[in-house]
Amino acid sequence: MVFKSKNKNKLEIEHKNNLNDSNMYQDDTVIECRNLNLWYEESQALMDINMKFKRNEVTAIIGPSGCGKSTLLRCLNRMNDVIEGCRIEGEVLFQGENLYSKNADIRLNRKKIGMIFQKPNPFPMSVYDNITYGPKIHKIIDDKILTEITEKNLRRAVLWDEVRDRLDESAMGLSGGQQQRLCIARALAVEPEILLMDEPTASLDPIATQKIEELILELKKQWTMIIVTHNMQQAARISDYTGFMYLGKLIEFGNTEQIFENPNNQLTENYITGRFG
Ligand SMILES: Nc1ncnc2c1ncn2[C@@H]1O[C@H](COP(=O)(O)OP(=O)(O)OP(=O)(O)O)[C@@H](O)[C@H]1O
Ligand SMILES: [Mg+2]
Repeated sequence: MVFKSKNKNKLEIEHKNNLNDSNMYQDDTVIECRNLNLWYEESQALMDINMKFKRNEVTAIIGPSGCGKSTLLRCLNRMNDVIEGCRIEGEVLFQGENLYSKNADIRLNRKKIGMIFQKPNPFPMSVYDNITYGPKIHKIIDDKILTEITEKNLRRAVLWDEVRDRLDESAMGLSGGQQQRLCIARALAVEPEILLMDEPTASLDPIATQKIEELILELKKQWTMIIVTHNMQQAARISDYTGFMYLGKLIEFGNTEQIFENPNNQLTENYITGRFG
């Protein structure tokens, strides 16, 4: 009897927690595209994208070459601004504010929304200077604090043990996988909210790839990540949500397990089963 009632309480608590979870998720959007359209000159590359990205989750964006994945990712921190002839309509709401509104603080938003590229792009300077570059721009000048920031972020990127004795050496001398983790450490050093990653392991060998994947799973405890990948297994392994794009449209977006095991759209199924792409 006692056992039953305890069990009932437990069930009730679990049920409440589930309800809380779903409530939390409704409010847990960090960045959101609303009716986002983008043109390069006359050619439309994004068509009416509506998408919400949730805090502390990994979202994978998949789809064949040229479907607009990188374009979408660049919209999320206004990296398309520098492309001549690029025009955007719609909104990208970051913590409720439109990144594209007239009074948006572009510099602050770029600090909050970091980006990692396919090819690691360390600056041609020392490991230490790579990490402290951003913090210095944001007016941190105290050497002791900069040293702490360096260690903290190299540890976050699980690179500290490999480079602790090479902080003054050029970052260009690191291996590809180390360079990519350095770029992640550099992005984290300005304390962003979101990390955008455009095929971050595409140029890495399987071991370096595995390290980055493990790192992504570790980082999601604290950061929100949006990752473009051509690797279906990678999307399935590391993401919580997956969006499938095709010809500039978001065809399907949902829970990763559902997308890979039970897609709603025939195009999604054709793509993930390798019938095109
Ligand atoms: N700077 C640019 N100027 C003009 N057109 C562009 C530019 N960048 C991308 N495009 C076009 O926009 C479309 C989407 O390109 P995008 O690079 O976003 O695709 P993608 O899905 O990232 O492809 P991939 O998987 O090959 O990286 C393509 O037709 C591409 O040619
Ligand atoms: Mg791309």
